[in-house]
Amino acid sequence: MLAIAVEQERLVWRECPTPEGPSAGEVRLRVAWTGVNRADLMQREGHYPPPPGASEILGLEVSGTVIETGTEVEHLRPGDRVCALLSGGGYAEEVIVDARQVMPLPEGFGLREAAALPEVFATAWLNLFMEGQLAPGERVLLHAGASGVGTAAIQLCRAFSHPCFVTVGSDAKLAACRELGADDGFNRHRGSFVEAVMAWGGADVILDPVGGSYLADNQRVLNSDGRLILIGLMGGRTAELDMGRMLMKRQRLIGSTLRAKSPAVKGVILDALLAHVWPRLISGELKPLIDRTWPIDEAEAAHTHVKQDANIGKVLLAVSGEG
Ligand SMILES: NC(=O)c1ccc[n+]([C@@H]2O[C@H](COP(=O)([O-])OP(=O)(O)OC[C@H]3O[C@@H](n4cnc5c(N)ncnc54)[C@H](OP(=O)(O)O)[C@@H]3O)[C@@H](O)[C@H]2O)c1
Repeated sequence: MLAIAVEQERLVWRECPTPEGPSAGEVRLRVAWTGVNRADLMQREGHYPPPPGASEILGLEVSGTVIETGTEVEHLRPGDRVCALLSGGGYAEEVIVDARQVMPLPEGFGLREAAALPEVFATAWLNLFMEGQLAPGERVLLHAGASGVGTAAIQLCRAFSHPCFVTVGSDAKLAACRELGADDGFNRHRGSFVEAVMAWGGADVILDPVGGSYLADNQRVLNSDGRLILIGLMGGRTAELDMGRMLMKRQRLIGSTLRAKSPAVKGVILDALLAHVWPRLISGELKPLIDRTWPIDEAEAAHTHVKQDANIGKVLLAVSGEG
């Protein structure tokens, strides 16, 4: 099959070994579209190796068609149009995935839009509701509000009546976040977000992909009993923690990664999406925000766009490009 290989730091669409399988609980998909995630940029640079047993090929999510099922898979059939959360292997014509990580398309959705759903909605759901344990009316601070994850998280906050405040890198991104349902926001290039978030009312949960450079300010704006959910390290991996503030305000710091979770746990997260998010996608209350798409053999251009922080929402790659 054809797949993306990293050759001398370049992304090259070329012949690669077709993955073996499916084993009993897996399915083989013919890939239509795959999503670009920030993690793909880190993986190609050698900073984010795939978990043991996962494909070395980039790509954490796809949409496509089931072409083969393992002997124990009962709920999927060849010909089914689906989307899937992967631990790797999406930038390819075919991928093998555990059937628990496969979801039907929301009614009325095509394969293109469906490829923009798994990674960002699973990440946002996992961290806001499962790790963050949002209680009714609690307030959320979302950093990188216009990222793929951010645009899903804003919409989930709005749908479940949690006021949310975003930080972003431009005024155009701020306007896009407001349009999606953010209450208020702050352009991070204008200095510290502390004053603006405190004036807004502070945060009970912070979804933070930045890490080191934001830790002190995150602690300042996190309310008593607040949860700081760390999902990325774009601003560095070390910083000083104010344990006095942490203790007195009963703050909790939670590290969270979706990719390394087992298929069983991923299945639980995706079941929650099917129950709570899919109906809202079907009704139009939630929607994937697609920034731009490229053909898979132009993956390099798509990565450059994401690396330049130019996207608002998801960037997709067309593999077969079926709609
Ligand atoms: N732990 C997990 O399970 C998990 C799962 C999925 C994603 N993630 C993480 O979540 C984040 C978003 O992922 P994505 O694929 O949705 O990202 P994305 O669409 O590529 O967006 C990332 C955005 O982050 C902002 N940013 C970049 N460097 C920054 C810095 N140093 N400080 C503050 N903001 C910065 C930029 O937006 P502005 O111009 O607005 O600043 C950039 O466009 C990534 O860090 C990713 O690794 C974690």
